[in-house]
Amino acid sequence: MTGGLVLRSLTGADFVEARRVADAWFGHPVGLTMHRLFFDQLGPSGLRAADSADPGRMLGVLLGFASLAEPELAYIHFVMVDPEVRERGVARALYEEFGRRMFAGGCTRVRTLAAPQRDRSIKFHEALGFVGTVVPEYLGPGQDRVVLERALPFRAEAP
Ligand SMILES: CC(C)(COP(=O)(O)OP(=O)(O)OC[C@H]1O[C@@H](n2cnc3c(N)ncnc32)[C@H](O)[C@@H]1OP(=O)(O)O)[C@@H](O)C(=O)NCCC(=O)NCCS
Repeated sequence: MTGGLVLRSLTGADFVEARRVADAWFGHPVGLTMHRLFFDQLGPSGLRAADSADPGRMLGVLLGFASLAEPELAYIHFVMVDPEVRERGVARALYEEFGRRMFAGGCTRVRTLAAPQRDRSIKFHEALGFVGTVVPEYLGPGQDRVVLERALPFRAEAP
């Protein structure tokens, strides 16, 4: 990255670019976890990250939204960052901006899931202050998940 990071809301059109890289960036097939529906219908509350020096190249995506069932809850469905720019704060920036927007809209908690074997995802979320609870068979038989939560906002706003 050479410029600053620019974050903007996702659109349905971002799906094609995100889908093209998703399996490689996750390191495994993501299947319908990345469905166009999410970009078309929930995109405006998600975020796309790019370098201001090269805004056409996507560096990261966060798909998240405010829960309809629990209005104080923000939910992150997935996040992914280009392996070429990992561990430089791109995902943290996506989470903090998403958290800021959700908190402004009334959400006081944020939740996401991780499979128990996804050590890197769990470590990343712990670094951001999430606390995980293993829930057996959360996604059905043999599909335990770590439910990770923390309070919003990630950072107190400057007065
Ligand atoms: C997880 C992922 C999104 C992290 O993106 P990133 O831009 O490299 O993360 P950041 O640089 O913003 O790191 C934020 C914090 O997490 C920590 N972290 C990031 N990746 C980590 C890892 N693999 N192990 C341990 N800690 C990690 C960083 O050290 C940093 O801590 P700090 O802010 O206290 O210094 C990225 O590795 C990725 O896209 N993975 C594949 C997709 C995936 O697993 N998504 C999550 C589940 S949906």
